[in-house]
Amino acid sequence: MTATGAAGSKFGPKILTSRFGLDQSWTLKSYLADNGYEGLRKALTLTPEDIQQSTLAASILGRGGAGFPAGRKWAMVRKAEPLYLVVNGDESEPATFKDHALMEGDPHQLIEGVLICAYAIGAAQAFIFVRGEMALAQERVQAALNEAYGYGAVGANILGSDFSIDVVVHPSAGAYIAGDETGMLESLEGKRAFPRIKPPNYPAAIGLYGAPTVVNNVETLSNLAWIMRNGSDAFQALGDGASRGTKLLSLSGHVRRPGNYEVEFAKVTFRELIYDPELGGGIRYDRQLKAFIPGGASSPWFGPQQLDIFMANEKVGEAGSMVGSGAITVMDETTCPVRAGWRITRFFHRESCGQCTPCREGSGWLEKIMRRIEDGQGREADLDLLMDVCDNISPGVRWPPAQTTICPLGPSIPSSIASGIRMFRDEFLDHVRDGHCPFPPDLLPASPAYA
Ligand SMILES: Cc1cc2nc3c(=O)[nH]c(=O)nc-3n(C[C@H](O)[C@H](O)[C@H](O)COP(=O)(O)O)c2cc1C
Ligand code: SF4
Repeated sequence: MTATGAAGSKFGPKILTSRFGLDQSWTLKSYLADNGYEGLRKALTLTPEDIQQSTLAASILGRGGAGFPAGRKWAMVRKAEPLYLVVNGDESEPATFKDHALMEGDPHQLIEGVLICAYAIGAAQAFIFVRGEMALAQERVQAALNEAYGYGAVGANILGSDFSIDVVVHPSAGAYIAGDETGMLESLEGKRAFPRIKPPNYPAAIGLYGAPTVVNNVETLSNLAWIMRNGSDAFQALGDGASRGTKLLSLSGHVRRPGNYEVEFAKVTFRELIYDPELGGGIRYDRQLKAFIPGGASSPWFGPQQLDIFMANEKVGEAGSMVGSGAITVMDETTCPVRAGWRITRFFHRESCGQCTPCREGSGWLEKIMRRIEDGQGREADLDLLMDVCDNISPGVRWPPAQTTICPLGPSIPSSIASGIRMFRDEFLDHVRDGHCPFPPDLLPASPAYA
């Protein structure tokens, strides 16, 4: 797996990953040698309102999936005490692994961002919620936090100022749904990660323990130290339209060089990401591109005709999908679209929390129908049946999706199935007519889960 190097490239400067590759990049010693905590020092000379303004001006879209501007989110929070900051490091979307790298590679950068945000919004306490399975990330963030306490950057009278705050690392309960912001708050409160109904439970109004809460993603906050040091104009100068700064992209699937790549937001096309020798390096074994998932398992698929779209929230949205958390999965010509869709649907079925009938039941029905088509036991009418069940989960099966459920997991389920049927209808039908999957088994990876 490739990690982005320290220096910038023709694809833009490194804001988030500049320290990756430095010796012991996760330690305080290494961090202090490279501008560590200088952004916080500067922030503490400013008023919280100044920092809020600067974040608004930088125009940083949330990097957790929904793309809501961080500055606007902070401005919307109900003014009441206590007020909490919760950092979303759950990262359980299949093929998304950028927060994982940020927490392991540069945990002090995250902690500095947490402190800048906490100071700006007036938080009484901050929580960093780290995916349960990411043992090393938890260890590194906790060790960095201990070092930061020792250095005086966390705790009472931070860096000699009047600002005091405690930060707690909390391992997540190991479920995808614990990454939904309200599911995460339930989990932090010690309950099952059942998402809350909105309205009224918008975290900015009624969040952790009923108090107003800002929830931000790891990558979102990891930008703040750089913005404080370099100014919001420097951040705004990168990118285009609403998509500013850089974006850390997780590239996976059938490319030669899978890995995390930090690129200037809105300035790189999918073609560059997949084929440029400095990035994905092309399709493995010189095969042809069949399709790619542009923004995580929840997003509708794209095909070769969408390769020249720029990776910008608005551009990908206009084309009928989303950048989401920034996970791009490439499928070459040997990929069976039924099998790929089935695997994704199976994931959603297993991860559905079960509160909403369309999500709980619909995901199970879809998974079973996809499985029987893949096994060669499907019928032609199954294609309409699949679309009908999708329509019951998310009416119209359109993008952006209609939501009939408590959280967005439900309407995410149809994306892979509807994409597969719309793009590869004949291949679905071949499974039915041939009575087996037309893709030779030796081209498919062994799957204990499928056995
Ligand atoms: C099922 C589900 C899983 C999610 N998982 C994550 C996650 O792992 N990390 C994350 O930051 N956001 C995740 N989100 C989005 C969060 O609800 C929320 O929008 C985000 O943490 C806000 O941070 P941001 O504004 O900085 O992007 C998930 C949403 C849903 C519906
Ligand atoms: S949509 Fe699915 S995951 Fe979300 S609350 Fe409803 S049942 Fe749970």
